[in-house]
Amino acid sequence: SGKKMQDSFGRNIEYLRLSVTDRCDLRCAYCMDEKMTFLPKSDLLTLEELEQLAQAFIAKGIRKIRITGGEPLVRRDILTLIKRLGAKLKLGEFDELTLTTNGTLLSKYAAILYESGIRRINVSLDSLRPEIFKKLTRRDSLAQVINGIFAAQKAGLKVKINVVALKNVNADEIADIIKWAHHHDMEISLIEVMPLGEIRDDRLDQYLPLSLVRQNLEKNWTLRNIDKKTGGPARYVKIDETGGILGFITPLTHNFCDGCNRVRVTCTGRVYMCLGQDIYVDLRSALRGENSEEMLDKQIAIAMREKPLRHDFSITKPNQMAQIKRHMSVT
Ligand code: GTP
Ligand code: 5AD
Ligand code: SF4
Repeated sequence: SGKKMQDSFGRNIEYLRLSVTDRCDLRCAYCMDEKMTFLPKSDLLTLEELEQLAQAFIAKGIRKIRITGGEPLVRRDILTLIKRLGAKLKLGEFDELTLTTNGTLLSKYAAILYESGIRRINVSLDSLRPEIFKKLTRRDSLAQVINGIFAAQKAGLKVKINVVALKNVNADEIADIIKWAHHHDMEISLIEVMPLGEIRDDRLDQYLPLSLVRQNLEKNWTLRNIDKKTGGPARYVKIDETGGILGFITPLTHNFCDGCNRVRVTCTGRVYMCLGQDIYVDLRSALRGENSEEMLDKQIAIAMREKPLRHDFSITKPNQMAQIKRHMSVT
């Protein structure tokens, strides 16, 4: 459909991030504690409900759907949803279906993801050093993730690596990860750690401004700004020396909210209008009540009206370093 959905600031909302589970097989320190309490399965939307939600958003003008989590591939029946959305994609009902994953299950699922219509995926990988990977994720899965990445490439998927820049963890390794990714024909994005979820670790101990990282990289490399657009928040450069593309996702040092085009739906059926704000609209009761189609439409319209202008993450207010209590893995 040629429909368009706008928020009250005139921004076109075309990108839906759909979380299908809060569960994960890793425990990245910036995301979860080792003893993470997950939602009871009965709180989760069913596959049919997730599909109906996606359909409602597509009808309103969403052009890009990214499946997220938690780790989306740990949800047992998720391939069914991906295939069904893939069928809509193939009919031209929207433009892009994609996935953000930690990579542990990619060897198993890469081929079927490709067959479903997915063409590129983003894989989170914060270290290539086994001992650092294990310390950060609290699991010994580095080899499995790397095998998964290569399996994905073999299956025809374009892979982008996501690296959260962390001061005492991978700061000294960032150039190596970039070289590795570019050597293997992958793009890579660096991400500033955001104050999400109640975890015991101190955010300020982890936080590494990407402005500093960029200065460091520029000591050895020439970075040229390019105007590549994926519809995501990254700003991209091309590096002369590696020939590859590097993205910077900088919610803290450089706010990108002006061009925000997205909303996120949780695995429990709430639509959060901003990652860095607590405001949400519930869609589950609309979905489960009478006149569900009409009610969904109405709730989505409310969400658009109430989408805030920007997040207020701030590094100058340390008590805000745990400002948003919900975990990234839920949204
Ligand atoms: P592309 O389609 O490749 O551009 O993907 P993407 O960057 O939109 O998605 P991905 O799941 O790889 O997200 C990378 C990082 O960007 C994650 O840490 C996200 O939390 C962050 N991010 C995505 N959207 C938003 C947003 O609206 N606000 C903020 N603050 N961060 C976001
Ligand atoms: N801040 C920044 N990025 C985060 N991610 C998870 N939690 C945070 C956080 N608090 C990243 C993951 C993944 C992407 C979807 O979000 O590493 O790459
Ligand atoms: Fe899992 Fe991603 Fe959270 Fe790591 S950041 S624990 S891979 S959901």
